[in-house]
Amino acid sequence: MSESNSFQFRYNRLRGKEELAPNERELVDRAVAALSSSYSPYSHFRVGAAVLLENGEIITGSNQENGAYPSGLCAERVALFYAGARYPGIPVVSMAVVASSGDGLTENPVTPCGACRQVMSEYRVVSGKPFAILMVGSNEIVRVEDVEQLLPFSFSLSNGMKRK
Ligand code: THU
Repeated sequence: MSESNSFQFRYNRLRGKEELAPNERELVDRAVAALSSSYSPYSHFRVGAAVLLENGEIITGSNQENGAYPSGLCAERVALFYAGARYPGIPVVSMAVVASSGDGLTENPVTPCGACRQVMSEYRVVSGKPFAILMVGSNEIVRVEDVEQLLPFSFSLSNGMKRK
């Protein structure tokens, strides 16, 4: 017999940076600063990300494009992969993402693409610890306490692939 299931998606909507905790505000400021290193001559859409690790380090990244379009990489994955390369195995505590297509930040919060969600999901699964994300816009900030909420039924090692 079939069974119907559901899950809850929990998030906070904040009206601005004033409503953030001081450490979250710093993370957002670092993501904003990372916008200046975006290499986005094709989309003219700059994205900045900052990742806070459990050891207190903050790693930032920005989107890096390429003339062979699919070869570029989103800001979130630049930051996460660099964090993984620089501090292997150190859990991610939280991440902030911002974007700009002109002078200021986008009005609406920037929401990560599916591939970035997949990468967040695996780091979260491997660490076994919640990983919060702040998606930032000039009109609103959305906080999700755990990125596992962003990608239900994500591909994961529990799907049967063995880690060697
Ligand atoms: N991009 C990101 O860096 N992060 C996102 O969450 C969405 C999209 C980048 C990819 C590309 O360089 C540009 O934004 C336009 O899609």
